Amino acid sequence: MSESTTIRWEQDETGVVTLVLDDPGQSANTMNQAFKDSIAAVADRAEAEKDSIRGIIYTSAKKTFFAGGDLKDMIRLRPEHAQLAFDTGTEIKRSLRRIETLGKPVVAAVNGAALGGGYEIALASHHRVALDAPGSKIGLPEVTLGLLPAGGGVTRTVRLMGIADALLKVLLQGTQYSPQRALDNGLVHELAATPEEMLAKARAFIDANPQSQQPWDVPGYKIPGGTPSNPRFAANLPAFPANLKKQLNGAPYPAPRNILACAVEGSQVDFETALTIEARYFTELVTGQTAKNMIQAFFFDLQAVNAGRSRPQGVEPRKVRKVAVLGAGMMGAGIAYSCARAGIEVVLKDVTAEAAAKGKAYSEKLLDKALSRGRTTEAGRAELLARITPTADPADLAGCDAVIEAVFEDTALKHKVFQEIQTVVAPDALLCSNTSTLPITGLADGVERPADFIGLHFFSPVDKMPLVEIIKGAQTGDEAIARAFDLVRQINKTPIVVNDSRGFFTSRVIGQFINEGVAMVGEGVEPASIEQAAAQAGYPAKVLSLMDELTLTLPRKIRNESRKAFEAEGRTWTEHPADTVIDRMVDEFGRPGRSGGAGFYDYDESGRRARIWPGLREHFAKPGHEIPFEDMKERMLFSEALDTVRCLDEGVLTSVADANIGSIMGIGFPAWTGGVLQYINGYEGGLTGFVARARELAGKYGERFTPPASLVEKAERGETYAD
Ligand code: NAI
Repeated sequence: MSESTTIRWEQDETGVVTLVLDDPGQSANTMNQAFKDSIAAVADRAEAEKDSIRGIIYTSAKKTFFAGGDLKDMIRLRPEHAQLAFDTGTEIKRSLRRIETLGKPVVAAVNGAALGGGYEIALASHHRVALDAPGSKIGLPEVTLGLLPAGGGVTRTVRLMGIADALLKVLLQGTQYSPQRALDNGLVHELAATPEEMLAKARAFIDANPQSQQPWDVPGYKIPGGTPSNPRFAANLPAFPANLKKQLNGAPYPAPRNILACAVEGSQVDFETALTIEARYFTELVTGQTAKNMIQAFFFDLQAVNAGRSRPQGVEPRKVRKVAVLGAGMMGAGIAYSCARAGIEVVLKDVTAEAAAKGKAYSEKLLDKALSRGRTTEAGRAELLARITPTADPADLAGCDAVIEAVFEDTALKHKVFQEIQTVVAPDALLCSNTSTLPITGLADGVERPADFIGLHFFSPVDKMPLVEIIKGAQTGDEAIARAFDLVRQINKTPIVVNDSRGFFTSRVIGQFINEGVAMVGEGVEPASIEQAAAQAGYPAKVLSLMDELTLTLPRKIRNESRKAFEAEGRTWTEHPADTVIDRMVDEFGRPGRSGGAGFYDYDESGRRARIWPGLREHFAKPGHEIPFEDMKERMLFSEALDTVRCLDEGVLTSVADANIGSIMGIGFPAWTGGVLQYINGYEGGLTGFVARARELAGKYGERFTPPASLVEKAERGETYAD
């Protein structure tokens, strides 16, 4: 019998064994090699000492119950490690299964977050009691890392709630539930308010169910809702792949497809065979490129970014107590809500008291919705609203330790509002502008303390978008960068830090994607194909419809300003082929985008997108002109990746993780790539393959695809983009 090192065996005099998950020296328990050995040792001992055992409780000594698979190990698995991946998973599952079928009641006392592998241990228990701890999450989020839950997660959720619910509620979206919502959706059996109550309930279950078994181990068991062998169920089955296809829009995400296949195939065979099917589908995912990309981005890069990789060292962390939000329009109202939600006092200022009150009403609207969905309480709603003070009087900003300006996009106006308030707020208040296009260095000229002035670029809708781009101006001090970083973390958003430049990082790079789509219109490509190519590449928004949303006059304005700046610096300005299309759309056809009632699309009276404007075909299409679909997709992806490399060359970006996270969370770069620089790393043939393909695109479609020298050299040195 091998030694258990990560699981403590605590047996009381009544025969109840508590298995305390406690990986020594680690902050969280994971399914690492030590756990694999420990759970096998526990299963051996349980079988050997079965007669003295009355029941088994899993719980943990950590703040979380169990964190899941060890991603550091998983990201290293390549196709040649398929057998290893298959065997490791199989061994853990076998041990959990031996405990599950020992013939004794098994209870999970889920004392904190149980995601992925953690919830799979709970699923291998007959009864699940969850501690109702704030912030605690329960679910199987593997799909969001390009994986599937292979610790029995697919096999057991299908048998627990039926194929349809397992797919829709747990597996395909990877939803992370609060304990209360986990209870409501059947993921756990009961909640407990305290750890003592949780353990008491676990014991009570053991006392009341000495012969307990999993439902699927009771003879005659049938999967709820039926299986594909049942004609009624089979008739509905085709709806799943169809819905999935719609959801994925043709984008290359292998995990949802494997999950669907695994659930359906696994439901038609016995439990043990289902586990093997699960391991097979998992192995294919974990050794493939997409899972590596997604683990890199959503775990390692995100962790590095949030932990402060780009935050200047040595500046004491500070919390903002009271923030002034200037401008209560769309962005200001959202910023006010996000700050108040994080417990910060907000003074929301606009030109008139009515405009300010309207900005506050936006929070009321969001809170009403949250209340109706059970995500807040009456008291929570009232408390949050009480933190927002709408006003038109600058005197009300007294004592604010941070200012976030979100008035109209106009340099003179922005200077004016800062002058109006800079002597009223705290003398060392952090001064932030939410400008989306104006260089920060120029804006800082209008304030008394340029070292404390910084860009804080939020994305719309602010309450939903997780990213904030922090922009350093030429005079911004380290203290301001650190304080801005802390403020973004305080409101639970993810900060990336970039240097000042026209369009910063995000707006500049997304502009390349949009330009590429628009350029194809000018080349005479069928507009519907352009939209389809964006969707199949994995972009959340169609490219021409996105241009309409942003309005076609905006890139014109930016282009004219950029051209002026280039000429002033003595640099040559190169037109983009999208420019003529945009000019014709606005000047010749009077179609400036959605807010003007017409753009690449026609809109109905209520402003809803009706159809692609038929005139596009008439004026731009070249019948018979076709370009390969793969080229269309890669032109969009490459245009953004290449411009990101230029951002690194120019020092706009200083971190690979910031680029990857910023591109996915801020501007919708497809998540399957792992972010805009990981896309280059993971491209077929690595950097060398990417360079060759970029040259090919440059030959076919224009100089803008020529790979920058730094990229070519990196490829020659055999390196990848990494911090
Ligand atoms: P908006 O037009 O909805 O709101 C601007 C607000 O500023 C209005 O309520 C206006 O009354 C107020 N205002 C004007 N002069 C003022 C003054 N002297 N004092 C106080 N308030 C004043 O504009 P939106 O969309 O909220 O944009 C605001 C800023 O955020 C702009 O700089 C914009 O470029 C930037 N931004 C916008 C994004 C978007 O998606 N709309 C995204 C990121 C940044």
